[in-house]
Amino acid sequence: MGAGGAGRVAALKLAAEGVRELCLINRTRTKAESLGREIGRHFPQVTVLLDYPDHAVDLVLNATALGLRAEDASPLDEQRLPLPRVGAVYDMIYRPAETPLLRRAKKPDVARPMVWGCCCIKAPGRSNSGPANRRPWP
Ligand SMILES: NC(=O)c1ccc[n+]([C@@H]2O[C@H](COP(=O)([O-])OP(=O)(O)OC[C@H]3O[C@@H](n4cnc5c(N)ncnc54)[C@H](OP(=O)(O)O)[C@@H]3O)[C@@H](O)[C@H]2O)c1
Repeated sequence: MGAGGAGRVAALKLAAEGVRELCLINRTRTKAESLGREIGRHFPQVTVLLDYPDHAVDLVLNATALGLRAEDASPLDEQRLPLPRVGAVYDMIYRPAETPLLRRAKKPDVARPMVWGCCCIKAPGRSNSGPANRRPWP
């Protein structure tokens, strides 16, 4: 979820790592379309959907700005993709360390095992010492 800078990097990295399918969800659909075309050029073997899938997924990754503020709406439309159909949730927001999405993913009614956390894209020449690095990529 999210096709800004962080979402683009995450999607391209997942494609490079051999993911079979990517579902790109973004408020501004044209940005998801543009990212989908970029992935298609570099990784034609990856299936790209520009919508929520109608099947279970291994990972939901939030790369939107939603969750920075406590009052933000959830970036995930659970009517379209209920959390029990999600293998793991990853939130790229690192402050707060636990976003409302991550808190929701830990709830007992979410039946599947969940992994959550955040990662940090290391800027060249900068050390990775913030809270973002205390949680490993699942
Ligand atoms: N963990 C890390 O290493 C790392 C690195 C970089 C960034 N981040 C985090 O990732 C998030 C995105 O950063 P970015 O650099 O990708 O920013 P960005 O390029 O400005 O992209 C922001 C994204 O959030 C979406 N968004 C913003 N407000 C929204 C709203 N009200 N409703 C729905 N979607 C909304 C945007 O959708 P539109 O395209 O429709 O505007 C876009 O997809 C930030 O929270 C940032 O802290 C984490």
